[in-house]
Amino acid sequence: RCYNIFMAEKTLVIYKPDAVRRNIIGEITTLFQDRGLKMVGAKLGWYSREFWEEFYAEHKGKDFFERLVNYMSSGPIFITVWSGDDAVRVGRQLAGATDPLQADPGSIRGRYGLPMPMNTVHCSDSLESAEREISLFFKTTKFLNGNKTSFTLLC
Ligand code: TYD
Ligand code: MG
Repeated sequence: RCYNIFMAEKTLVIYKPDAVRRNIIGEITTLFQDRGLKMVGAKLGWYSREFWEEFYAEHKGKDFFERLVNYMSSGPIFITVWSGDDAVRVGRQLAGATDPLQADPGSIRGRYGLPMPMNTVHCSDSLESAEREISLFFKTTKFLNGNKTSFTLLC
């Protein structure tokens, strides 16, 4: 059966600087693939403090905010969009609790996370944040090549 990637739910997953630095992009990617999600967008990037202040605007003023934006701008990240049934909830489940010390040892943060804020991955927490966060990194083209089932994210 034809699986329509454009219609399916999508979530943003960022492999944070500690993940890229430690060369565990493949391991993390396998976990999402094994849960049946499909990668429909990906790029490497390195973004400024100002960018992260906007990305994490909801946390402005909190005590960890400065450390968080400094950390996120400290090196390259791998930015991905995953598509599939319940993509947002599956992503949050695979990521595990925010603090690696509290996260299930079988989750990504429980297995790979370092002291906060180095918790290895970011995953959108709702459909609304997924849409907002994806649009901060990618331009969406619905029907490239006139193929209604294709879905393309432009860098
Ligand atoms: P938050 O949105 O609460 O967590 P999540 O990434 O699970 O959605 O926080 C954003 C990031 O801020 C989090 O991934 C790591 C960092 N952070 C800290 O460094 N210290 C903290 O006490 C919290 C709550 C978050
Ligand atoms: Mg959050």
